Amino acid sequence: MGKTLLGICASPRKLGNCELFVKEIFKRMGDGWELRMVRLPEFDIKPCRACYQCLFDQLCPLKDDFLVVLNGLADADAYVVAAPTYFLSANSCLKVFLDRGLQFYAFMDRLWAKPGAAVAIAGIEGKEGGAKRDVESFVKLSLGDLRGSAVVYGALPGEVLLSAATLKIAEQLANAILDPAMRQKPAGPVCPICGGDTFRFVDTARARCMLCSGTGPWEFKNGSIVFNIEPGDHPIFLTKADALGHADWLRGMKDKFLARRQELKEVVKPYLGMGSFIESKRRQEKV
Ligand SMILES: Cc1cc2nc3c(=O)[nH]c(=O)nc-3n(C[C@H](O)[C@H](O)[C@H](O)COP(=O)(O)O)c2cc1C
Repeated sequence: MGKTLLGICASPRKLGNCELFVKEIFKRMGDGWELRMVRLPEFDIKPCRACYQCLFDQLCPLKDDFLVVLNGLADADAYVVAAPTYFLSANSCLKVFLDRGLQFYAFMDRLWAKPGAAVAIAGIEGKEGGAKRDVESFVKLSLGDLRGSAVVYGALPGEVLLSAATLKIAEQLANAILDPAMRQKPAGPVCPICGGDTFRFVDTARARCMLCSGTGPWEFKNGSIVFNIEPGDHPIFLTKADALGHADWLRGMKDKFLARRQELKEVVKPYLGMGSFIESKRRQEKV
């Protein structure tokens, strides 16, 4: 039986750059692969309500399409996520989906180490903001094996197909998905822990990797910046044990909350009724 590549396309545009680039990758996967696509904005995926029920073997109370997409991902042999840059980040529907990801832990066996690639599309060269990290984060947090990632430029639908360099990236990502030995090699200074290349300087001596959240000193070595990031004591996706441990830690918060409930109730009391909330249309119509 053939294998399935799932293309998760966060753009609403039909035959837009995200969709086309996913298809470019698929074209290079060779025989024996079938392409399944998800156009994420077409699905009804509601924002997480932070009830944490899904961590305790209960179904998410939100009735929508989240599980349709998650099952599609769990069934696939590999996946590519492609998101357009909107206002210097990956567009919002990707994050709305990711925010429901406490449910990923219940799918651990079907998701862990699934080969994945991440693509951020930006219309203006250099104006991708944090979109590359956003799509990388999507693969890491959905428990996949991030084999490669890229920013690809193109504003008008179809423009990504016009650059030979961009098509080469599609080939590299297809190869990386097909063969772990072909996973992307760092092209510049990266986090030694997770391969991320987006950092925040936490003070004058230390930087934090915005993908794995590891922190450590940075230095100049042979004319290049080197990030000596360490994983810290709460890595969340570097190994399967980390991911399971993080899920357990989250479950443990329930008992911590119950133990401190009275104290927390007291501390929030003075804020009850402070200010007035602007009402949504839905709420106004209910009154
Ligand atoms: C609301 C909106 C905001 C955008 N913001 C950015 C941006 O911050 N940086 C950028 O380079 N391109 C930006 N773009 C351009 C898109 O990223 C670009 O057109 C991309 O090719 C869209 O991918 P698609 O064809 O798959 O929809 C924006 C587009 C829209 C609609």
